[in-house]
Amino acid sequence: MSKTIHAVAVYPGEAGSVHRTEIPAPEPGDDEVLVDVIRVGVCGTDREIISGVIGKAPEGADELVIGHEVFGRVAAVGKNVTKVKVGDFTGATVRRPDGCPACAAGQPDMCVWHQYTERGIQGANGFMAKQFVEHEQYIVSIPAELASIGVLTEPLTVVEKAVRQVRLIQRRMPWWQPKTAVVLGAGPIGLLGALLLRSQGVEEVVAVARTPAPNSSATILEAAGARYVSTEEMSIPEVGQHYPQIDVILESTGVSAVAFDGIPILGNDGVMVLLSLTGGTRTAEIPTDAINTGIVGGNKTIVGSVNAGFEDFTNAVASLRKFESLWPGLAGTLITSRLPVTGDVSQIASKARDEIKMVVEFGP
Ligand code: BGC
Repeated sequence: MSKTIHAVAVYPGEAGSVHRTEIPAPEPGDDEVLVDVIRVGVCGTDREIISGVIGKAPEGADELVIGHEVFGRVAAVGKNVTKVKVGDFTGATVRRPDGCPACAAGQPDMCVWHQYTERGIQGANGFMAKQFVEHEQYIVSIPAELASIGVLTEPLTVVEKAVRQVRLIQRRMPWWQPKTAVVLGAGPIGLLGALLLRSQGVEEVVAVARTPAPNSSATILEAAGARYVSTEEMSIPEVGQHYPQIDVILESTGVSAVAFDGIPILGNDGVMVLLSLTGGTRTAEIPTDAINTGIVGGNKTIVGSVNAGFEDFTNAVASLRKFESLWPGLAGTLITSRLPVTGDVSQIASKARDEIKMVVEFGP
């Protein structure tokens, strides 16, 4: 019998079907890398998959191995691989291209046809397994000094891409320098966005979330010179009154109504990046004249951003290094719970109180 390895999978569409499974041990092809997984992060997308709302198994399979925030170590390389060697620490990108113009140009994160696959999410098995293989082109090198926080690379790429979009858009105004930024939501994406903006020298970074301080998100933000505001102490419109020139807004609450509440507080010439994929069917009544006039009169940009390009992965690794030099040990405090893969994997389904980032541990 061929060798099998531990993995964590769901039956897509079946709520609460997360379970440990055994899959065949993968073998790397000539252009592929075999990675020993060390740990895998869990995010809101994984929880939506676990609750049966999204997620698609690979063609012909009924199980989907979940997990797309991976950190591991190269176990073997195919004979044509030059990018990494055995023993190197690595991550991997998530989305795999279809044949659309964006994908053909090497930017599947901008896919037009939406026939892409995403490892652990959409039509391709993920990384929550003892080992995985991947073409070297999708492998991301992570330096050994970042071993304890390398698992944060992928979530950080989401905001790396967002902030890169902001800077690309704002080349329309060569004098533009962001001084004030608001992050809506203080989960892992909001926090990493706030750290990123602070690390890039944005003076005033304010994260707005529901839970009143003190809490671990507020502690992390304060340590990085950012501010935490609970909507219980200041509503979103009040945040706008307090900060009249908000240059950048990153929206990561997962609630579409909050995204629309945020638009009116964006300052003139500002950019708001919407980052929440909201799967529901909610509707709301909104002041369209005021919102429209605000956007037009203020030359404002509202832009959506999903997934991340390869350069966002390289930039995320550089940013993690910068975080460590600015605030040693701080990024690591985002990891608030560790679940061994041999434990009760049904615990992945629910977010513990005061949890920021849960990771599943596969061993050294
Ligand atoms: C992942 C992205 C992915 C998106 C939509 C996010 O959680 O970080 O890589 O594109 O979900 O599936």
